[in-house]
Formats: sequence, C-alpha cells, structure tokens
Amino acid sequence: MPPRPRRLAPSLLSADFARLAEAIRLAEEGGADALHLDVMDGHFVPNISFGPALVRATRRSTRLPLDIHLMVSHPDQFVPTFVEAGGTTIVFHREADVEPGETIRRIHDLGAQAGIAVRPPTPLDDVAPWLDRVDQLLVMSVHPGFSGQKFLPESGPKLSDARARLDRLGSAADLSVDGGITTETAALAARAGATFFVCGDSVFARGRVVDNLKALRSSIGAGRPDEAR
Ligand code: DX5
Ligand code: ZN
Repeated sequence: MPPRPRRLAPSLLSADFARLAEAIRLAEEGGADALHLDVMDGHFVPNISFGPALVRATRRSTRLPLDIHLMVSHPDQFVPTFVEAGGTTIVFHREADVEPGETIRRIHDLGAQAGIAVRPPTPLDDVAPWLDRVDQLLVMSVHPGFSGQKFLPESGPKLSDARARLDRLGSAADLSVDGGITTETAALAARAGATFFVCGDSVFARGRVVDNLKALRSSIGAGRPDEAR
C-alpha cells in the first residue's frame, strides 16, 4: 500500500476567532488540505475551546475536510453531534472513557472517518488492537490542551514506530502529528513517516498565513511521499 500523500491541516485554535472567515479563506488560499478543530471540555485537558456551533459555522464556510480532534473525557456522547455538525474525521483519545472498538464502529456507522489519538506518555501498544480499523492514528507531539508549545523530541521515534506498525498491517491510515509543528519539525515528522500535519501557531500566530503554509508545504515535500524522506 503506497503511503498517502502528505497533507497540511491548519488548526483553527490558533486563529483569531473574531476573524475566522478570513482565517479559513487564507488557509484555503495557502493550499491547506483540511482544517483541524480542537474540541476541549476543560476536563480531559485543562482548557476549554469550542463546540459544535463553531464546527457547523466552519462547515458552512469551506469545502475542506474537517478533522475534529475530541479532547473530551466522554467522546461517545458527542460523536453524533460532531458528525452532524460536519466533521469529516472524528478523532478521539485512547485515554478517554471509551471502548475504542465501539467508538470506531459508531463513527463509521454515521458515515465519518475515525481516528484514535495518543498523548505523549501513552505507548502505541495501547492502540495496537484497533490500528487495523482506523482511518487515522494521531500521535500528539505536545501535551494536549494548548497551541504554541514546543515539539517533544521523543515524538520522532514514536512516529517512526507508528509508521512501521501501520506499514506492517498494510494500513493506508493517515499518520497524523499534532503539536509544535514548524518547518523544521514538520520535515523531521515527514522523514519519520507522518502523512498528516496539524499546524497551529506556525500558520496563524504571526500573520502571513499563505506564506507560512507554502513554507510548511515545501518542508514536507510538496505532498509527494518520497521527496522529504
Ligand atoms: C493542542 C492541539 C493542537 C494545537 C496545535 O492540544 O491539539 O491541535 O492547536 O497548535 P501548535 O501547532 O501551535 O502546537
Ligand atoms: Zn489538535
């Protein structure tokens, strides 16, 4: 199974919420492949972000796929809401209160793609039983909850291990990396086998969104799987 083309997903958490339409338009202009939306409940992580209303508003503003990252303690409760709100992929955390097989089935039954995420301390063995049926494996490269943190160096070897596990299964699932992605860490993650790059502050924090996305694109090898390896 050839690896998927590499894709960039700006994280709206780093955008100016009062000017979201403009942020989305600039992300599109810069060639974003998807948008990443971080849903936080103030319990699973020590922060509160936004809920389905903002996902719905984003859905009305773009045709890009919406990658919904549920950092909530009880994801099952919210899966139908976020699929209905327009989520393309629903990513839940292994560490949440879930029976992963059930949650994946629920997401698929509703016609969305399913992703499973791990925090930095969570070993990949903890998600191994479900890797053959997810559409995305998300390796967090910061402790979830806030944008603008530094990429944890141990994420590189973890991504390589994740890549090897997916390859052994012949899986075409996306290997997603989220947290502290800059042009440097994006290149590192690409070499380790990531295919889906979530970028918050490196896209939105200091303006020049279109230029930032172009720089990130060239650092991951313009979407061609072998270029940055
Ligand atoms: C952090 C979120 C990330 C965040 C990434 O908990 O899951 O998606 O927005 O932001 P950066 O790229 O700035 O680390
Ligand atoms: Zn995220």
